[in-house]
Amino acid sequence: MRILVTGGGGFLGRKLIAALLADTPDLGPISQAISLDRVAPPIEDARLSAKIGDISDRVLLAALFAEKIDIVWHLAAAVSGECEADLDLGLTVNLQGTLNLLQAARAAGNTPRFVFASSVAAFGGDLPDKVDDDTVITPASSYGSQKVVGEILVKDFARRGSIDSRSLRLPTVVMRPGKPNKAASSFVSGILREPLSGQGPASARFRPTARWPSSRLGGRSPA
Ligand SMILES: NC(=O)c1ccc[n+]([C@@H]2O[C@H](COP(=O)([O-])OP(=O)(O)OC[C@H]3O[C@@H](n4cnc5c(N)ncnc54)[C@H](O)[C@@H]3O)[C@@H](O)[C@H]2O)c1
Repeated sequence: MRILVTGGGGFLGRKLIAALLADTPDLGPISQAISLDRVAPPIEDARLSAKIGDISDRVLLAALFAEKIDIVWHLAAAVSGECEADLDLGLTVNLQGTLNLLQAARAAGNTPRFVFASSVAAFGGDLPDKVDDDTVITPASSYGSQKVVGEILVKDFARRGSIDSRSLRLPTVVMRPGKPNKAASSFVSGILREPLSGQGPASARFRPTARWPSSRLGGRSPA
């Protein structure tokens, strides 16, 4: 099985690749894992091919899909704070980049499985106590809006038989190592990370807000 992970050099992408290369009992063995990102994941494995590139590059995408890809995990994205500060960046990476990837998968003609990393930013404003797939999507940011449009495109490409899709509305994942990034929810990682790295308790003024952080316990994977 040959897989492609866009954003494979990022926080979640590198953990995903490491986990997939370690064990995929439900999927079968992986012969090649391709990471497409501007940075390479810090993973040593003969099955990993790190392509340094951009999902805006349609020629590169076509070349990647020239050989059959069975599963695509689409994680490459500009994060929420970046998209709010720079609408054109979000539209180029999160919207046009996702469409480029879908078009390349469609042109490949083998109906690859396509897993799209969406976000709880699909929701905004006042929410009911229980949020599920039937909750009306109300994005309140450019990033959230771009993720919702991505979900709709992914669903339509699946309806047309071009891909076999799943979209995941990921919650805030803690804790991101290193420095804070430009995600609007970056402070959630900081509440745990800064004290653990000896920088003292993080302090900030918050208005009351509900958060649903998620984490992976146990095991070892690249920092
Ligand atoms: N981490 C979270 O808490 C969280 C929560 C909800 C959703 N998500 C989604 O999950 C995915 C992964 O998140 P993450 O935390 O690993 O983000 P990240 O910023 O750590 O990783 C994203 C990667 O995408 C790459 N990238 C950005 N633009 C690119 C482009 N044009 N071409 C190629 N690569 C590009 C970056 O270099 C980076 O390595 C994203 O789609 C994000 O929106 C993450």
